[in-house]
Amino acid sequence: MNLKEMLKFADEIVFAKTGQHLDDLQAAVLQGTIQRETYKQIAKDFDCSESRIREIGSELWQILSEELGEDVNKKNFQSAMERFQVSNVSNFAQNVSEQHISGSFNTCGEARHPPEQRNSNQLNDETVNAKPTKTLHQDLSEMPELGNFFDRTHELQTLTTWILQQNCRLITLIGRLGIGKTSLAVQLVQQIKDEFEYAAWYTLDEFPTIDKFQSNLIQLLSNSEKQDSSPTNQKRLPLIKYLQNHRCLIVLDDVHNLFCSGESAGKYKPECEEYRSLFKQIEKLSHQSCLLLIGWEQPREVTQVKNQNTPIRTLQLKGLDIAAGREILRDYGLAESDNTESLIHRYQGNPLWLKSVATLIQDLGGGVTELLPNDTILLPEDLKDVLQQQFDRLSELEKQVISLLAKESQPVDRIKLLENDIIPVSDLANALQSLSRRCWIEQQANFYTLPPVLKQYIKEL
Ligand SMILES: Nc1ncnc2c1ncn2[C@@H]1O[C@H](COP(=O)(O)OP(=O)(O)OP(=O)(O)O)[C@@H](O)[C@H]1O
Ligand SMILES: [Mg+2]
Repeated sequence: MNLKEMLKFADEIVFAKTGQHLDDLQAAVLQGTIQRETYKQIAKDFDCSESRIREIGSELWQILSEELGEDVNKKNFQSAMERFQVSNVSNFAQNVSEQHISGSFNTCGEARHPPEQRNSNQLNDETVNAKPTKTLHQDLSEMPELGNFFDRTHELQTLTTWILQQNCRLITLIGRLGIGKTSLAVQLVQQIKDEFEYAAWYTLDEFPTIDKFQSNLIQLLSNSEKQDSSPTNQKRLPLIKYLQNHRCLIVLDDVHNLFCSGESAGKYKPECEEYRSLFKQIEKLSHQSCLLLIGWEQPREVTQVKNQNTPIRTLQLKGLDIAAGREILRDYGLAESDNTESLIHRYQGNPLWLKSVATLIQDLGGGVTELLPNDTILLPEDLKDVLQQQFDRLSELEKQVISLLAKESQPVDRIKLLENDIIPVSDLANALQSLSRRCWIEQQANFYTLPPVLKQYIKEL
C-alpha cells in the first residue's frame, strides 16, 4: 500500500467505527507516522502542541486496535494495516454478497470489517443470532420515492454493518438540511428490509404525539398476533414488547420536530418527553429491532454516548464527492466548465443546494463561469426559504455566535472567540457545542468556520 491508499484505508476504518472521517490533524498524525516522523516533528509541521498530537495518536491507535483486532501503535501501524488488508481480501466478496449492497465498492471498504465483538451483557444471544428473513409486514407508505441517487457507497456500507452485523438498536443519522439523509435512508431500507420481519417508516410532523406513532406501529406489529392484553410492566411502553418479539426496522424521519425551537439542540418539547423514555428503552432493553432516527438534531441522550461498545451509533452525513456533485449538475442541465469543481466545493456537495443553484443558473440561461466570478455564492429564494426554517430553530445565543463567525473570512480561533466581550465564556461554550450538534458550524482542531452558503445567508439577512 502506498501512503495515499493507507490513509484512505485508515479513514474508512475510522469512519466505520465512529461515523466521522479523519480530520486534518488525525490525517497529519497518520501521514507523519508512515513517514517515520516523531510526534514532535508532526506537531511542528502542523503548528500544534506535541501533547495534542500524542493525544490524537493515542485515540487513533485505540480505534484501530479495536477494529483490526490487534494492538496497533505508532511503531507497528503500517505493518498492522498491511497485515489486515492481506488477511481480509478473501472475506471481501463474501461480505459484499451477504450485505445485498449494489453499486461499486472500493477494495478497502468497511464491509470487510469483522463484526464487532460484544460482551454478553450488551447484547443477548438471540439478537445477535437473529436469522435474516423476508419482510413479512411493511408500513412504508410514508417513505418518499427515491429519485436519481449517486454515491454514498461508504455510508451505506457503514450503516449496513452497524445494523446487520453489529446489531445496533438505535442509530441517528444527522446532517445539514438537504444533505441527503432521507434519500440515503430510503436506499438503505430498500437494500436491507428483507432482513427484518417488519419494516416501517414514519415522518414526524410538527406535532408528533407519541400516541399516534405508537398506535400506528402497534397496529402494524400486532397484525400477526393478538394484541397482548396481559398487564404490562408499568415502566415499559407496550411497543417495546413487540420490538422484543419481532425483528423490526423502524425509521423515524424529521426527528428535529421532537425538539424545541429557540433552545439549544436536542431539548424535547414538553409534549414529546415520552419519546425520551421510548428511546431509552430501545437502547437499554434487550431486543432484536433497530430504530433509525433521522433529522437535523439528535436526542441529547444520544449525543452523550461516546462509548463505541454500546448498541448506539451516530452518522453525521457530509456532502457528496465531486464526481457525484458533477452528476447532479449534469442532471440539471449544467454544462461542465472549469468552475464546476469549485462550485461543488462552495456548495459543499450538498445535493439540495446544488440542485437549487443549478436551477437558478439554468433559468438565467448563463454558464457557471460568467455567473459565479470570484467565488460568489448565489442564494436562490427557495434555498433562503428552507435555510430560514433552520435558522429560526436557533437560540438567541447561537444566532449571536453565528453573526460573529459570519464576519470572519478565515477559520476563527477558539481563543479569539472566547476573548469577545459580548458573550460570556460559558454561554459561548454551550452555543458552540449546540451549533456543532446542529451541523451549523465546522470545527477543525481549535478553529471554527461557518460554511460559505450559511455565511452568505447570514450576510443577506
Ligand atoms: N445521493 C444523492 N444523489 C442524488 N441526489 C440526491 C442524493 N441525496 C439527496 N439527493 C437529492 O437532494 C435533495 C435533498 O435530499 P434529502 O431530502 O434526502 O435531504 P435531507 O438531508 O433529508 O433534507 P432535510 O434536511 O430537508 O430533511 C433531494 O432532491 C434528493 O433527491
Ligand atoms: Mg429529510
